[in-house]
Amino acid sequence: MQYDPERLVKPLPPDPEAWRPIELPGSDLPAMVRWAVEDDEVEAAFGVRRDVFVKEQGYTEEQEFDDAEPMALHVLAQLVPGCATTPGAARHLGAARLLLDSTEEPPIAYVSRLSVLKFARGMGMGRAMVEFILEGAREMGCRRARAGAQITALDFWERLGFHPTGEEYMDFHVPHEWTEKEL
Ligand SMILES: CC(C)(COP(=O)(O)OP(=O)(O)OC[C@H]1O[C@@H](n2cnc3c(N)ncnc32)[C@H](O)[C@@H]1OP(=O)(O)O)[C@@H](O)C(=O)NCCC(=O)NCCS
Repeated sequence: MQYDPERLVKPLPPDPEAWRPIELPGSDLPAMVRWAVEDDEVEAAFGVRRDVFVKEQGYTEEQEFDDAEPMALHVLAQLVPGCATTPGAARHLGAARLLLDSTEEPPIAYVSRLSVLKFARGMGMGRAMVEFILEGAREMGCRRARAGAQITALDFWERLGFHPTGEEYMDFHVPHEWTEKEL
């Protein structure tokens, strides 16, 4: 199920400016999900991932930011620029990346490094980012998506239509299982 690092092709969004609003329950703060294409946007996505996977979950920088990074297309969930700030003045609340493995035709879309800052969980940002990525992947011609689910987040992936494959593995110190979804 693991992608072949040698067969990654850089995903090109049909519309790099594409974005979609996120309805935050119980809040009128305007939030959105979009591709992170400029260097500062990619850095913002890395910042969210650093908070979640390095500081919170104990991955090292080297484990988190791996060799696939240059071949990834990143997404950000964030408050709309210019609106009220959030605790810690964070405007960027979630991140993820899309990898395309061209071993099969059409390529397989791998959704990975999905992360939402702790205080912003349970408000639909994880779902919004995955749906945004899958919509983009479909437009890029993909017909199948995979995600390596942390066992503690397996129900989240199932709610989004990903089926556990039974293939379990350790990603360093964190137990995972591969999941798959037809697009
Ligand atoms: C997993 C994670 C990305 C989910 O993001 P989120 O923004 O909190 O999730 P959402 O609010 O979009 O939840 C969507 C649905 O999944 C459910 N859900 C969210 N996290 C869940 C979890 N850990 N277990 C079970 N269900 C979960 C929600 O209740 C919601 O259900 P509903 O649509 O029926 O109401 C977030 O908890 C996170 O960043 N965790 C730490 C990093 C991590 O584990 N990443 C996953 C790597 S595989």
